[in-house]
Amino acid sequence: MSILDYDRNLFGTIEKFIKIKILDQEYEIPDRLELLRVFQFLDFSIDYARLCWNGSCKRCIVSFEQKGKSNEAMSCRLKSAEGMCLNKLPAAIKVPKPEGSGQ
Ligand code: FES
Repeated sequence: MSILDYDRNLFGTIEKFIKIKILDQEYEIPDRLELLRVFQFLDFSIDYARLCWNGSCKRCIVSFEQKGKSNEAMSCRLKSAEGMCLNKLPAAIKVPKPEGSGQ
């Protein structure tokens, strides 16, 4: 799938793409999009039944670095920004294994 071939009902009109790192892998993603939506955009495995998407359950907490500072935040609230590095994802989010990895 091309990054320009996305579902506008889910992600709205994307005006700009940026680069961030998730677990040491670089991704090109929409700017200013909630990180939980970014995971959906990237086709990560999401345990939808465990997540509220509205800031109540706290099961979407990510650890990240931005502008040299470490922090944690709810991925359903935190918006993507250039240069962000996510170094820990919640249990409800899984990065798919690369094709051909045999795992
Ligand atoms: S998904 Fe429940 S707090 Fe973010």
